[in-house]
Parts: sequence; structure tokens; C-alpha cells
Amino acid sequence: MNVDVFTLFPQAFDWYLSQVHIRNAVELGHTVRLTNYRDHTPLSHLQVDDTPYGGGAGMVLRIDVVCAALEAVFPGNAERARDGRRVVELTPKGRQLDDALAAELAGQDLVLLCGRYEGIDERVTHLVTDRVSIGPYVLSGGEVAAMAVLDAVTRKLPSVISNPESVVSESHSAELEGGAEYPHYTRPAEFRGWRVPDVLLSGNHGEIDRWRALQVGKG
Ligand code: ADE
Repeated sequence: MNVDVFTLFPQAFDWYLSQVHIRNAVELGHTVRLTNYRDHTPLSHLQVDDTPYGGGAGMVLRIDVVCAALEAVFPGNAERARDGRRVVELTPKGRQLDDALAAELAGQDLVLLCGRYEGIDERVTHLVTDRVSIGPYVLSGGEVAAMAVLDAVTRKLPSVISNPESVVSESHSAELEGGAEYPHYTRPAEFRGWRVPDVLLSGNHGEIDRWRALQVGKG
């Protein structure tokens, strides 16, 4: 899977991309490349945004800037970036990210377009295959949302997570029919009077499986 992220703030991804599961993915041959729209703007003074037609608050990321950045990375017409790729605009107006969408995107080549300010000029719809939101609230930009998409999608790639079982039946997965996973506990068995359920200390794996199934409403 090759992922291209377009952003005005590539440095926002530094910590995230250094995390172990992303490093695992890169070792397996997956790639994540960051492109700063500003590095490719055709406008003077490194301009990337402009005031909205019709008036109103805030600034809008210009469509000519987005096209120039896409065309710098994928030579040819920016609309063709969709050939063989999912081109995703991160926007609060998009389809809400869930486990099914993460599974659908996993393994495909992705282009993630982050907006800032009031977002990207609406004509970005000519360039994208998907518009994705990470929830019904407005963030200051698409960077956090792009990281959420990357994180949810990367966990679905075979061998990226060291114990693949932990992914199959985690919360919101099809395996758990969208429900929450059973609760987890670790040492100490008792802390400030808060006890771990006795069954988990019993060593009886049949009982433990039954208890876990009960917790997720499958018992
Ligand atoms: N950009 C701003 N808010 C967002 C959201 N909720 N989801 C995705 N991208 C966004």
C-alpha cells in the first residue's frame, strides 16, 4: 500500500510516522510520503489560500494549488491521480470513518488530502473518490483526521500488528458485529480495593472464554 498525504503541515506527522506499527509497515514495503501543498504552489509569495467567493469568514485552500501539488507527485492531469488509487479528502462533510471503511481502504493505494482553514475549494470533488470525516465535529485541519484514517487502515494490513488476532476481534470489528471488545485487565490483581474478576485469575480457559463472550453479549 502506498500512501500520499498532502498537507500544509507535514511536520504534524513526525511523531505519528515514527510509531512502531508504521515502521513495521514501511519495513514490509508499504510507503507513506508527505507533500506540502506550499512547495508546489503556482502563486507568488507561496500563497495557497484565498478569501471565499460570496464573502464569509476564513480562508479556503485554492483548487489550483491542490491540482499543482497532485500533478507534481503524479505527473499528468490531477484528475488521473484517481487511476488505481482512492483519493480521499478529509472533511467534516464526508462519510464517517468506521471499521468497514478502514477495511475497505486497507491495502489500496491512498491519497489523503488535508484541508486547513475553511477547507478546500469545493471543486476538489472533481479530484477525489471519497470524502471522509472522522466524526461529527470540526477540527482545525485534516491532519489529525488523516492520521486517524492511516492508523485504522494500517492496523488492517497483514503482519503490521505483531499479534493479528488482536485486530480480528477488536471493538467495532465485523467479528464482534460492531460491538465493543471484552474488557482487559493486567497486574496487580487488586489495587486500592479494585479487583480483577476472579474468573480471569482462575486459569480455567473454558470459563474465561464464556465470561468474555458474556461481556460482549455473545454468551
Ligand atoms: N477536517 C476538519 N474536521 C474534520 C473531521 N471531523 N473529519 C475529517 N476531516 C476534518
